[in-house]
Amino acid sequence: MKYGIDAQKEIYLQGMSGIKPIVPTIYEDLVKEAKEKMSAEGFAYIAGGAGMEKTMKANLDAFDHYKLNARMMQGSVNIDMSIHLLGKKYDTPIMAAPIGALELAHPIAEKAVATACRELNIPMIFSNQASVKMETCASELGSTPRWFQLYWSKSDDLVQSFVSRAEKCDCEAIVVTLDTTTLGWRTRDLDLGYLPFLRGEGLAQYSSDPIFNAIVEERMKNKVGANDPKPPITLTTIENLFKVCKNYPGGFLNNLTSGKALAAVKTFIDIYMRPELEWADIKRLRKMTKLPILVKGIHHIEDAKMAIDAGVDGMIISNHGGRQVDGGVGALTALDEIALELKGKAALLFDSGIRSGADVIKALALGADAVLIGRPFAFGVAIAQERGATAVFKHFLSEIEIQLSLMGIKSISELNRNVLAKDSE
Ligand SMILES: Cc1cc2nc3c(=O)[nH]c(=O)nc-3n(C[C@H](O)[C@H](O)[C@H](O)COP(=O)(O)O)c2cc1C
Repeated sequence: MKYGIDAQKEIYLQGMSGIKPIVPTIYEDLVKEAKEKMSAEGFAYIAGGAGMEKTMKANLDAFDHYKLNARMMQGSVNIDMSIHLLGKKYDTPIMAAPIGALELAHPIAEKAVATACRELNIPMIFSNQASVKMETCASELGSTPRWFQLYWSKSDDLVQSFVSRAEKCDCEAIVVTLDTTTLGWRTRDLDLGYLPFLRGEGLAQYSSDPIFNAIVEERMKNKVGANDPKPPITLTTIENLFKVCKNYPGGFLNNLTSGKALAAVKTFIDIYMRPELEWADIKRLRKMTKLPILVKGIHHIEDAKMAIDAGVDGMIISNHGGRQVDGGVGALTALDEIALELKGKAALLFDSGIRSGADVIKALALGADAVLIGRPFAFGVAIAQERGATAVFKHFLSEIEIQLSLMGIKSISELNRNVLAKDSE
């Protein structure tokens, strides 16, 4: 599929017939249009962050400290956008970040992302919290590369099961997310009293897993959680109970009468995370799979060093888009420090705050080997499903290609700190 100058020309030509781009190229307009299509809860969950959202702001502000310094008289229109990562060649420097519960954007959810990734051969990272199971996305992707993101459950058997399924889905790497040992203090969601998982949303990897289902059955047999505190019964409680039974696979009536869907949600809440995870567990994961292992959520230089000591193949410098710790450092600032010291010792990927092609170029120039796009494609799904997500990715790739051409850079591999002028402030 064409992007870059061809895509730019196409947009202008269509404009001659009064046709606007499928999704806006201006980020603020993308968010605004998506908001109009989504429920208040769905929008809050995707757009929101932790606390006063100062980490979210720091993520965006960090990009302003680095400016691009273009060179003249060495331009080219044929830009090599490919990268080499973990011994493989990828067509583009961008990947789709793992974003869970995408049914909040639109019921087609991750399937739309898989279609978009296939269109542009962009690697997709399946979220552990997806609304569509990995096997469905894998078949939608065809031969497009995919990775699997793991939340390390209290059940090692479940971890092993997820990893084995990811291997069968031809995932090329396992990404262990470290920054979500518990959910951040997400003020927008708290004020709406809304958590998708409690309503059976974002649980597709679990509901389709034989080990998870066996754990649920066992707990039901042993009446685990029968005496747990229950919310007050109101009309809304009943409505939400119906939603859980509708959202969870197995049929509404069966779920309602057997109590399975509710038991599954409670099981998920009890076991989805292991807060006491430690670096030694990464070595255990190494025994479970031959796939490359990356850790996601690193932003402290000491953690980056410890990850390398633990033998990871790579790490994603990220603060989960500011959804976990508030008042934190901008992720790009962390990338600067980590890449200066550790570039070349492990693959360094980056996310949190990428909103434009220029942002992608800055992260690559600072030393990222690849960059993950997050919220923007979720908003694309909300606006126009697979066509929306495709358009978002296409806009990113087009801007990157055009910018590089204007900067006198012929390939992604040429990018380094020389293209940056650090802001004097
Ligand atoms: C709605 C939403 C759901 C997310 N779900 C996951 C997830 O399941 N696993 C994960 O590792 N990261 C998850 N993330 C974090 C993203 O992978 C990525 O780190 C973040 O979106 C980057 O920030 P940005 O979108 O502001 O650029 C989620 C982010 C959002 C916005």
